[in-house]
Amino acid sequence: IPWNEVALETAREVEKEVMPLFGTSKAGETMGENVSGDVTKYVDKVAEDVVLSRLQPLGVNVVSEEIGFIDNGSDYTVIVDPIDGSYNFAAGIPIFAFSFAVFKGRKPIYGAIYEFATKTFYEALPGEGAYMDGKPVKVGKPERGKEALSFYTRGRCLGLIERVKRVRVLGAIAVELTYLAKGALDGVLDIRNYVRTTDIAAGVLIAREAGAIVTDERGKELELRLDATSKTNVIAVNDRYLLDMILEEL
Ligand code: IPD
Ligand code: CA
Ligand code: CA
Repeated sequence: IPWNEVALETAREVEKEVMPLFGTSKAGETMGENVSGDVTKYVDKVAEDVVLSRLQPLGVNVVSEEIGFIDNGSDYTVIVDPIDGSYNFAAGIPIFAFSFAVFKGRKPIYGAIYEFATKTFYEALPGEGAYMDGKPVKVGKPERGKEALSFYTRGRCLGLIERVKRVRVLGAIAVELTYLAKGALDGVLDIRNYVRTTDIAAGVLIAREAGAIVTDERGKELELRLDATSKTNVIAVNDRYLLDMILEEL
């Protein structure tokens, strides 16, 4: 299966269906509760319907943020968030993305994120690298005292704010992980025990391939669970000293 084509074509179709709803109250209407206990907005439903009908003919397993796990008995599992950052989308904040990761058994084989506002397509080819519109990307090298972090903590670890220069919390962790991958952020952490694999799978693959260190809250390499309901903490940084600093503050 040509995963890059499937990912890009699906993203483009989601874009076509959802963009007319950008910044509208219709987009934010509540449709019910999803499998992880979060609300499903109208835009989530529109986007997910596109994804499911695109993937259905492939016969693969799908883990999608709203509907959960669809087991088709395949070796392949696609972990997808049709739209990450749906609050931003409905509120008219242009930071949201399509997130798509493929596993064969438990092994990651492909990851992609499409950022709608900039029409940027990020990819991870495990073992080969991370790409932005086909060109290799690498994490940046932080300068001490000049770091930029995205930081979801719900009151934990606030000492960190004083130890870095910039805090940017953008509301779409898939996008933020691509910013880490391309060197625009030095770290992304969510320690609310709240993110799901659908939020971070592709972003973690892309960030890792770009050279990031991605761990749990103990500093152990983060393992992605292939379901729609487990919640986790994640720390992703471009340098070991930042990881140590974060762990010290936790
Ligand atoms: C959200 C984004 C955001 C995170 C929220 C998630 P959604 O995903 O990933 O960064 O802070 O916890 O719910 O619901 O907009 O797909
Ligand atoms: Ca999400
Ligand atoms: Ca979502």
